Amino acid sequence: MGQTEGELFFSDVRVREAKRLLAEAVAEHSNHLHGVRPADEGRVESYEAVLQAFAAARGAPLFYKYVGSGIGNGALVELADGSVKYDLISGIGVHGWGHSHPDIIAAGIDAALSDVVMQGNLQQNAVALDVMQLFLQLAQKKGAQLAHCFLTTSGAMANENALKIACQKTGGSRVLAFSHCFAGRTLALAQVTDKALYRSGLPDTLAVDYVPFYDATDPEGSTQRSCDVVQTLIERWPKAHASMIFELIQGEGGYYPGERKYFRKLMSIVRDAGILVHVDEIQTFGRTDHAFAFQHFECDDLVDMVTVGKYSQTCATLYKKELQPRPGLLSQTFTASSSALHAARVLLKEMCDGDLFGSEGRITTGAQFFSDGLLAISQRHPELVSGPFGYGAMCACTPYGGDLDRAVDLSRRLFDAGILSFVAGSYPKRIRFLPPVAVMSKDAMTDALAIIEAVLVEGA
Ligand SMILES: Cc1ncc(COP(=O)(O)O)c(C=O)c1O
Repeated sequence: MGQTEGELFFSDVRVREAKRLLAEAVAEHSNHLHGVRPADEGRVESYEAVLQAFAAARGAPLFYKYVGSGIGNGALVELADGSVKYDLISGIGVHGWGHSHPDIIAAGIDAALSDVVMQGNLQQNAVALDVMQLFLQLAQKKGAQLAHCFLTTSGAMANENALKIACQKTGGSRVLAFSHCFAGRTLALAQVTDKALYRSGLPDTLAVDYVPFYDATDPEGSTQRSCDVVQTLIERWPKAHASMIFELIQGEGGYYPGERKYFRKLMSIVRDAGILVHVDEIQTFGRTDHAFAFQHFECDDLVDMVTVGKYSQTCATLYKKELQPRPGLLSQTFTASSSALHAARVLLKEMCDGDLFGSEGRITTGAQFFSDGLLAISQRHPELVSGPFGYGAMCACTPYGGDLDRAVDLSRRLFDAGILSFVAGSYPKRIRFLPPVAVMSKDAMTDALAIIEAVLVEGA
């Protein structure tokens, strides 16, 4: 068997040397970024013009004055005004390995050298198969029966595909979801997402019945209430629900984790009624002591469909063999860009074989160090902040009693001081962090936490 032209090309000595030189240049420039720094005075005016052009083009200003320069170093990112900031929100959970990570850059170069920018349902390269198999390998690790993987371009599309599979398979036309959940922003998912503002003016495209979420201050009572509500809804709408969407650690809703027994009970009730269990892991994937939060909560035997995105770079719907939809239901021009697939392959391989997970894994130890730091701040200033809340690398605190305006103001002041965070929840309003804990040193976290504390105190 001879080598393909592709194999010959990627192992061509000139290609290998060019990649080595590029990696060397990226590392050299990336290493020049070693702490927060203010904007370059000389760039203030031109940067402002870029921000205004952004606002004009998109019809509204950016939430933060953030335009990246294209280089970073782990949690540090340089903006086009020359400032350097700690990115503790990671594009709302996307840049799990921070900025300019050498392995992701190398994957990106391979992707750039491949023949196509975008891959789709009709024509895919071998990298797409690797990604699907790695997703499935991770998902099946503790016994979940997830046999198939359909790649897609956004978390919302992954959820849409799961909804379509569930409706077609069960014949149901309603879904169950938790109060305060977030599921995406398509017409159907705007109905699932429990926020009136996000569906304002939109048609009612999907019937959704809400179930109150777990309350850590009342484990038994809240479990009973949720189970009772589900039972009542099932009785009110017999055979009408296609699936129940489980967000195991509520993200946009304010960083509230659920609990193992609670989920197992609810999942068992809905499954007994023929309703599919759909776990939305778009924000939780890669942020607990296991690849999937359903593995952390030990629900492997109860999941029917799982959706992933963000951290994995490539989004996907994983589902059981018996849920295979009829031809024509799922298809897309784009399933992912080549760069997203190449990056996903590197990340997922490390999730399979590396030291990210378990109680001593880089995710758990890094997340613990960060949340311990937030706890120490809240203990020093209980009148200013409470927390931390969340679980694993999803970490939040409630500043100034949860006041909306003050939380938004704090996030903006943090930005100015060199920390990227974001708000979550409605009341109390929280400041949330999705730090790239796997690649962020303890020194960098200590440095970032000191800035957070100073900014909190300054706004007292
Ligand atoms: C739990 C959850 N589901 C779905 C989505 C939607 O993902 P995307 O923004 O990629 O469409 C998000 C995004 O924040 C999410 O957190």
